[in-house]
Amino acid sequence: MKVAVLGAAGGIGQSLSLLFKAQLPAHFEISLYDLSPVTPGIAVDLSHIPTQPKIAGFCGDDPSAALEGADIVMIPAGVARKPGMDRSDLFNFNATVIHKLIGYCARVCPNACIGIITNPVNTTVPIAAEVLAKAGVYDKRKLFGITTLDVIRAETFVAQARGLDPSRVRVPVIGGHSGTTILPLLSQVAGCQFDDEEASVITDHVQNAGTEVVHAKAGGGSATLSMAMAGFRFTQALARALSGEPGVVEYAYVEGNTDYARFFAQGVRLGRHGIEEWLDIGPLSPLERQELDSMLASLRGDIALGEQFAREH
Ligand code: NAI
Repeated sequence: MKVAVLGAAGGIGQSLSLLFKAQLPAHFEISLYDLSPVTPGIAVDLSHIPTQPKIAGFCGDDPSAALEGADIVMIPAGVARKPGMDRSDLFNFNATVIHKLIGYCARVCPNACIGIITNPVNTTVPIAAEVLAKAGVYDKRKLFGITTLDVIRAETFVAQARGLDPSRVRVPVIGGHSGTTILPLLSQVAGCQFDDEEASVITDHVQNAGTEVVHAKAGGGSATLSMAMAGFRFTQALARALSGEPGVVEYAYVEGNTDYARFFAQGVRLGRHGIEEWLDIGPLSPLERQELDSMLASLRGDIALGEQFAREH
């Protein structure tokens, strides 16, 4: 199985590539691509880690060599936030990056599963869908906006609030991947109950956790290490499912089957061809229902922006 990382020389890309080389099983091949000329060197560096996956690095304007034969493509290419910016400030630059890179994916590895990390995810995923559709290769089972960081943050904060082992806590997170569109469903956490006040505090923390990192890094970038771990968790789950393991469920921002918005973060059961089943979001508390209703206009606006960008380019 071949995994390609586009944007592999960046903060997320390098950490994600390290996790891939250190942790993926022997039959994996890893290919790294970035505009940066340091990328082949990152692959040489990682190749000295004594694990079996093969690794190669490519740079320059054309990612085709890295994409050849890829089963999974993870994309953290683009610019990240600085203090005072929100994710939508990244739109102009990153929309163009995604438009270009997905064009190459459509031509070189049209059957690959693609995970988009590049922000604003609410908008970059619709752009990717449109580019793939224009090329005649869009399969909604295989395109994912990576929202796993929201999930692992929610799991961490719930575990902290209840003194639990975070690796055993599971929290569904639905909606999108910015501000109030990120909605952890705390009413569905097994074995935990939260009143509205506590639920609001945890929800707020999950929604603002990215900004907390941006401020704490004081101009040095946004979340990279926790994002790499999240991207690794998602890729590992997807790879297990593609290899035939049954019952693999993760949350991601996908083109689903809900009436909420064309793209929506929800639970998906993964299988040999990507998404096998879009899971129902389940019962919501009155507070969650209200938060869902009030985020939809913003989420739909983000999606429309991506669709319009793709139409015009
Ligand atoms: P970074 O600036 O450290 O790295 C970005 C890399 O992308 C650089 O190495 C750059 O050379 C490369 N790049 C730029 N344009 C490219 C192109 N056209 N082709 C190939 N490579 C290109 O940024 P970082 O911190 O790694 O973040 C990357 C993206 O991930 C940002 O958009 C950020 O907002 C997003 N992000 C997403 C999260 C999520 O939960 N989905 C969480 C955190 C960040």
